[in-house]
Amino acid sequence: MTTTSNLSHIHRFVPGQDRQHPPLLLLHGTGGDENDLIGLGELVAPGRALISPRGKVLENGMPRFFRRLSEGVFDEEDLRRRASDLAGFIAEASEAYGLGAPVALGFSNGANIAAALLLLHPQALAGAVLLRPMTPLRSPPPAELGGKPVLMLSGAADPIVPAANAGALADVLRERGASVRHETLPAGHGLTQADVQQTKAWLAGL
Ligand code: MLT
Repeated sequence: MTTTSNLSHIHRFVPGQDRQHPPLLLLHGTGGDENDLIGLGELVAPGRALISPRGKVLENGMPRFFRRLSEGVFDEEDLRRRASDLAGFIAEASEAYGLGAPVALGFSNGANIAAALLLLHPQALAGAVLLRPMTPLRSPPPAELGGKPVLMLSGAADPIVPAANAGALADVLRERGASVRHETLPAGHGLTQADVQQTKAWLAGL
């Protein structure tokens, strides 16, 4: 379980023993890396294969999955390009490790690129857990999400994500046919024990 760069993204891969359920694609927040969410993945989905890429954009030395112009204002051209690159990485990793389409588990910036993947490359993911997500695209394209399961967990006191913004993302995903459960927890932008419990219970029911 070491970091490798043999595919297009530096990443970690944990093979797991559970091949009945989809693998998890772990997507870290700003300033994180491929190591950050491994422990969370093992906690919420014991035994699943884990694929954990590192975001390729550096903001003052901090890895991210796409560029932003300021907090909450995204460089959408870069976002579209990076989402396409990440979809390519998922296909490479699936082939290299013999896996089916993963369920994304993304936090903050990682949740936002996962939401962009759902909207731009829906075939890349089997579903997604979006922890503290916001709407990634001002004008999301039409997409057919065909009942794809999505769990969104927002924080009632999140200083980064306004409630209306997260609500708009849930609406956009539902309009495109995703099966969305959106909960707002008594939390800020950081994760809490409730995030762990809700994610674990939701993944167990997939
Ligand atoms: C983003 O830039 O994706 C969001 O503002 C979340 C963050 O990374 O702080």
